[in-house]
Amino acid sequence: MEMRNVFIVGRGLSGRVCLGTKCRSRPTFGLGQVSRAFSTTQTTWASGFAESQSKKAPAHKVEADTEKFRTHSVQDLLSLKGRVTVVTGGARGIGLALARGTAELGSDVAVLDILEKPSDAFLDFQKDLGVRAKYYRTSVTNPATLSQTFEQVIADFGRIDNCVTAAGIAVDKPFLETTAEEGMKVLDVNVMGTYLSAQLAAKQMQAQNSGGSIVMVASVAARAALPSQHLSIYGASKGAVKGLCRQLSVELSPSNIRVNTISPGYISTEMTNRLAATNPTLLSVFNSAAPLQRIGDRADLKTVVAYLCSDAAAYTTGTDILVTGGLHAGRL
Ligand SMILES: NC(=O)c1ccc[n+]([C@@H]2O[C@H](COP(=O)([O-])OP(=O)(O)OC[C@H]3O[C@@H](n4cnc5c(N)ncnc54)[C@H](O)[C@@H]3O)[C@@H](O)[C@H]2O)c1
Repeated sequence: MEMRNVFIVGRGLSGRVCLGTKCRSRPTFGLGQVSRAFSTTQTTWASGFAESQSKKAPAHKVEADTEKFRTHSVQDLLSLKGRVTVVTGGARGIGLALARGTAELGSDVAVLDILEKPSDAFLDFQKDLGVRAKYYRTSVTNPATLSQTFEQVIADFGRIDNCVTAAGIAVDKPFLETTAEEGMKVLDVNVMGTYLSAQLAAKQMQAQNSGGSIVMVASVAARAALPSQHLSIYGASKGAVKGLCRQLSVELSPSNIRVNTISPGYISTEMTNRLAATNPTLLSVFNSAAPLQRIGDRADLKTVVAYLCSDAAAYTTGTDILVTGGLHAGRL
């Protein structure tokens, strides 16, 4: 698109204005400002410019199907039939539940994890839900093997529509005692693992020209320190995931690839059980710190992620959904 230099006498405005809707370089001010400014000034240059624009521009019209809310039911919008969802860290815990949530809406699922085999509940996907489900043993931190795994997923399923990044680890240790190796491992899995998985998924979505949805699992720990826990490097890693989400949501939007995060509070999984086992006071914190006075369940998360993967969330990108029982809002 063309950029023009503009100076509006009497308003002290000067800068660049975009002569279209898709300028690559950022305009200093918009056409609305130009014409508003001109209405109170006498500037032949701006006058000619604004007039020529108003002749060219079509009458302002919102291009929207005003009947869509009646013709597209909630059930239709939520359906994931015919879609393929990749879930990292899906052998157990939250990832397993998120994979099941998308499968319950009809998606085929490719589950990636470092464990030798997934929990038995994974086997139910195909049996109970009638979708295709396949398990891939891989690490999200190894770019070469992760890339081969994505190639295998594409060979097996033909496409990728959604990518949910749940693979993650936590270190609960005082800041001054955490070693560089521990810190780097958390960053490697939680940040680089998310980055590489999202990149491989987005490349395929772009090649398909189909759009897609990427949902990253962040944490309330990116937003607040939590009682009885020391989560400096974990919180930092989840903050990075949220920053990555915002960057990608804009960068990938021309390909209609949406990118969002969820930030769970305490959710009952192997991860929280392990943490509670090393610190018994954590058990009561997990059960009572949230205003809703219970630890979260994986069932509290799966619908949120399935929604973000679906067309029901077609206008939702760059956002974070907190599922914390109110933990982020305050204490009773
Ligand atoms: N449980 C909670 O309370 C809670 C709260 C907020 C966020 N989270 C986040 O949710 C996600 C899942 O946590 P969870 O509680 O289910 O933990 P979990 O330990 O039960 O599951 C994590 C999964 O990630 C896999 N994984 C770890 N490293 C991997 C690697 N390099 N490559 C591939 N897979 C790998 C593990 O094998 C495991 O199956 C994590 O990102 C975690 O940070 C959990």
